[in-house]
Amino acid sequence: MEGETVIRNVTDIAIRVAACRTRRAVRHFSRSGFLSCVLAACLGVAGLPLAAWAQPAPDLGSEEQREAGRSLYMDKCAQCHGDAGQGDGVAAPFMRPMPRDFTAGVYKVRTTPSGQLPTDDDLARVIRDGMPYTGMPPWPQLSDDEIRNLVYYLKTFNADFSGPYGVPDLAEIPDPPSFSEASAERGRAVYEENQCFDCHGMAGRGDGSSAPTLQEQWGNHIRPADLTKRWTFIGGATRQDIYRTFTTGLDGSPMPSYSITPIEDSWALVDYVYSLSQDDPDYATAATARYAADPVDPAQGRAAFGEGRGAYFPVVGQVIESGRSFMPGVDGVEVKARYNADEIAIMLAWHDMSAETTGENAPDMAVPPTEQVVRDTVASVWSDAVAVQFPQEMAPEGLPYFLFGDAGQPVDLWFADLASGAGRSYVGRGSGNLIAGETDPSVHATYEDGEWTAVFAMPRDERFAEGAFVPIAFSVWDGFNDERGNRRGITGWYYLYIEPSERPSPVMPMLRAGGLTLLALLSIVGLMRFRRRTSVSA
Ligand code: HEC
Ligand code: HEC
Repeated sequence: MEGETVIRNVTDIAIRVAACRTRRAVRHFSRSGFLSCVLAACLGVAGLPLAAWAQPAPDLGSEEQREAGRSLYMDKCAQCHGDAGQGDGVAAPFMRPMPRDFTAGVYKVRTTPSGQLPTDDDLARVIRDGMPYTGMPPWPQLSDDEIRNLVYYLKTFNADFSGPYGVPDLAEIPDPPSFSEASAERGRAVYEENQCFDCHGMAGRGDGSSAPTLQEQWGNHIRPADLTKRWTFIGGATRQDIYRTFTTGLDGSPMPSYSITPIEDSWALVDYVYSLSQDDPDYATAATARYAADPVDPAQGRAAFGEGRGAYFPVVGQVIESGRSFMPGVDGVEVKARYNADEIAIMLAWHDMSAETTGENAPDMAVPPTEQVVRDTVASVWSDAVAVQFPQEMAPEGLPYFLFGDAGQPVDLWFADLASGAGRSYVGRGSGNLIAGETDPSVHATYEDGEWTAVFAMPRDERFAEGAFVPIAFSVWDGFNDERGNRRGITGWYYLYIEPSERPSPVMPMLRAGGLTLLALLSIVGLMRFRRRTSVSA
């Protein structure tokens, strides 16, 4: 009996060391992580009693707390994470990344060195804040006690939490020095020296050369974060969060842990990553088409549309009609526009991990309803594509159905398959009823540093009259994600404002406002004089 327990302990330790080693093999060694592996090996030889002596006892909560956590878990978490915590709930197949398998004891967002368990606070934080842009929702409505009980329950899924490694070490995560441009500039070199671009791309848009091949420990493809959109970071977007992310790594995911010295270089890297993104997406409700008399040359790309960022709209998966895309590859599209007497041109730009320029795509391509929801392999069958849609007529009764229109109110669809680069127009009376339109748009598209830029140009009809607010909506297809037809990223209706070519001169209103102010001042002065005179004479 006793011999058996010892063997089990030793095997356990051997597995742990092997796991440490394989994890280590793919990431840069962080010193403390390495030491913990060595320590694990020593403890394995010395046996468990020493381990128990060396570490304080883990806090596993009381029976009641775990039980309270269990019922919350069954109510709120099991549909994704599974009744037995194996990450196989009913909703799991629709998600990438998949819900965590808690029996593995591997966690991404930790203040502990790579290879170690998270702290209770780490788990509590991720439950409260959720993991943005994944299936993991935030739970702000749960009380601190409820979250603590959930944490105690999650810890029952993996024996390591109650073993000698149940109290993990803490990684050193200092308070950040203040941000400086000079430090961010130096950080670019640190980014390059450490080859972050292999995965995150030169401009940080998540388009590195390894990006299409990356897999989580659990086997599914995972995209590198788009560092130009820090609001999508699963572990938080502060400079301290970024520091923690690359010093402790995201275990289970290909994102390694790094030990970057001297510490100034670590903060320089943080500042560089931080400088790549604005604070929030700053979504727009309308894009503006500006007047420019000269002819539109779509081949100029972005340069034809002047300086500055365009209007940015959120893209979400089409999940209403059959063909659904639960985790679309594209999450936002930037829009700029211009017009002259004869033409209107619209620029769409979006970040894409890889350009799929082989295969084909079309808005009316069938998607078998039984097809697996998100691909896990790398082979481009479907090309990337994009479309912009307008109501065919401006009707007082409201807008057409946003999924390619309806029988009563058709839409005009301008579509571009980015493999052929050809523009096509369709008239849509619903996604099951798309017919070829009369005039095809001219399209010019380029892909650079993880960004597609597509410019559509069309003859300008009466819909685009000066001063008009024209309803506009977008569709984006990511070929890597097997998107085509109804499986795509979509937006709701927004507006395209046709800014009048002759803006009313600001001089007259200014003079008028100035005149009024002067008049007001004079009358106040007059009133005071009058008052003074009357009080003196009284
Ligand atoms: C709608 C599905 C869904 C629900 C409901 C859900 N989760 Fe998750 N959860 C996920 C997904 C997906 C991930 C993986 C995200 C990733 O890897 O980026 C995740 C990851 C986690 C993680 C891992 C964090 C880490 O650092 O690796 C924890 C802990 C967690 N969930 C706890 C919970 C708890 C507790 C509940 C219930 C209160 C819950 N989840 C409910 C989908 C869900
Ligand atoms: C081997 C590929 C790879 C390399 C090299 C790599 N990363 Fe990552 N990184 C990823 C992946 C994949 C993710 C997304 C992981 C996830 O969501 O599970 C990620 C996520 C991130 C995030 C977002 C974290 C969050 O909370 O969502 C930051 C910041 C980051 N990496 C910074 C860096 C920096 C800085 C370097 C270089 C020092 C680097 N990465 C090197 C693959 C890589």
